[in-house]
Amino acid sequence: MDVLSAELVTAGLGTRFIGQKVIYFPRHGSTMEAAREAARQASAEGTVVIAEAQTAGKGRAKRAWLSPRGSVALSIVLYPDISQLPYLIMLASVAVARSIEAVAGLETQLKWPNDILIKGKKVCGILIENELKGDRVTWAVIGIGINVNIRMKDFPEIADTATSLYDELGKELSRVGIIRRLLVELERLYLSLGDGGDIYQEWRDRLITLGKRVRVISGEDVLQGVAEDVNRDGSLLLRHSNGQRSHIVAGDVTLRDAG
Ligand code: BTN
Repeated sequence: MDVLSAELVTAGLGTRFIGQKVIYFPRHGSTMEAAREAARQASAEGTVVIAEAQTAGKGRAKRAWLSPRGSVALSIVLYPDISQLPYLIMLASVAVARSIEAVAGLETQLKWPNDILIKGKKVCGILIENELKGDRVTWAVIGIGINVNIRMKDFPEIADTATSLYDELGKELSRVGIIRRLLVELERLYLSLGDGGDIYQEWRDRLITLGKRVRVISGEDVLQGVAEDVNRDGSLLLRHSNGQRSHIVAGDVTLRDAG
């Protein structure tokens, strides 16, 4: 297995702040918890928490996230302005997609709201947590889990819907190489966020969800329709067969067909 350490990630990293401080755990419950704790103690912006393996990895909607040794599990502490919050998911998704394409040479697709797929199977999930005080963001944490050097046959419970870079390439990759590229891409996008227009466009262009018939599970509701567009706040516009439109802020999408 390739070697992962804080020093290997930070040494000569071409960023101003993201990844300049790395907290590494050989094993931890969840990097989200550790990053939240770091944020509460006012750790420098861009602090990255990495775990070689997580024992209680958190997915969206209170699901568990499998992160055995060989995968990438990291969380990044940011202190964004409230106007930047909707764009964090977009810039994290685009940064992961660009990094996988650059380092592994594999084509990726984005599935609303925050999955990165390869050939239709999930290779990465992203979780964003934040705390607000009034209209001030006290902290935000971007959590990223990428299936890198794991063999999906060892995880039959998700092998139908998930893939790994190892399975796609047939060889191991340097997790340090992927993480370093990811941190550089993330910082570049974060620093050039401006009014969010560019990142919104790239995110929207990369979404395979748009124009497709989908089923969306949002809380207790199951909705069907055509995923017509996404708004700049990240929400999904769903057109129902009766012509009505729903605005979906959070949910899980299943693509119904290719048409
Ligand atoms: C999802 O698709 O449900 C989101 C998965 C997010 C997983 C990452 S792994 C690093 C960070 N720590 C966690 O416990 N979760 C996120």
